[in-house]
Amino acid sequence: MAEFSLDNILRSNVKKLIPYSSARSEFEGEAQIFLDANENSLGSTLNNNFHRYPDPQQKQLKQKLSLIKDVPAENIFVGNGSDEAIDLLIRAFCNPGVDNILIFPPTYGMYEVSAEINDIAINKVLLTEDYQIDLNAVKNGIDNNTKIIFVCSPNNPTGNLLEPTSIEWLLKNFNGIVAVDEAYIDFAGTQSWSQRLNEFPNLVVLQTLSKAWGLAGLRIGFAYTSKEIIHVFNKIKPPYNISEATQQLALQALQNEQQAKEKTNILIQQKIRLLEGFKQFDFIKTIYPSDANFILVKVDDAKDLYQYLVAKTIVVRNRSSQPLCENSLRITVGAPEENDILLLALKSYKA
Ligand SMILES: Cc1ncc(COP(=O)(O)O)c(C=O)c1O
Repeated sequence: MAEFSLDNILRSNVKKLIPYSSARSEFEGEAQIFLDANENSLGSTLNNNFHRYPDPQQKQLKQKLSLIKDVPAENIFVGNGSDEAIDLLIRAFCNPGVDNILIFPPTYGMYEVSAEINDIAINKVLLTEDYQIDLNAVKNGIDNNTKIIFVCSPNNPTGNLLEPTSIEWLLKNFNGIVAVDEAYIDFAGTQSWSQRLNEFPNLVVLQTLSKAWGLAGLRIGFAYTSKEIIHVFNKIKPPYNISEATQQLALQALQNEQQAKEKTNILIQQKIRLLEGFKQFDFIKTIYPSDANFILVKVDDAKDLYQYLVAKTIVVRNRSSQPLCENSLRITVGAPEENDILLLALKSYKA
């Protein structure tokens, strides 16, 4: 296979694109009077100073994150959730009606949805029975128009990390983009692929503040990748994709790294408790190991158990429609008292 070349896989319209130049990105420096962006010079209807457009490059946020994640700020893209980075990847590299992406079902649903929205075909190679990448079958899912492989590790909904050797094989042998989605990495206790960006020019690592940092409502996600690919993201993203309020709150949240770690540890302990607790129930046929903040279980009758739990005001996710997930429920690890209630409810199921 030919070497990876960004120039070869970038869409030609993106290559040619002259990005929108916003007032706030054209002027850098100190000034007293800003009459350049048609903002409201009298201020906002809130006490906070939201009358100015936010920093389009989220510099402060990237600097702080760079220290926490040990990734240079110039290798970080900040998105409106990591879902924004998934969409931008597809729009940057895949020509509608022509190109395709490769995914490994069962996996996170947005790769497929984003591809469909952009009229991009989806090649699928099922994971193996133990939810690992089937390297022998990968070649069946790749053709000359395959531009991105999405690898979710730890994988949603199965919960397990994918073998690093398989991911490395893809990075070395596929000459398109390999996007490693690490939304749940903080629960896995393994090193992030972001520490190996220098080795692989085709690597894009996705992370989020929605899980371990408990900020799903804020909508902040990241892509870590080469400076060249960051430049592409910056060209095609909406100029002000992260609001001022979100940037301020995210920066504040990142000061509380210790709290995020404590929460993560509690959730990992609670996961161990649930993994153990589930063993007592005969109607749970398989409890899959989890490197994430959720557990996939195969049960006798997923629909029935789902409805029973809903009647007890507990909502879990029925993943039975996904391949290799027949009769499977995905259960997010709750707070300790929520898990008490869950285990009690399960005890009285079919009792
Ligand atoms: C694997 C995976 N990637 C990405 C996301 C989306 O994250 P965000 O909230 O940052 O858009 C999720 C959300 O559930 C996920 O499970």
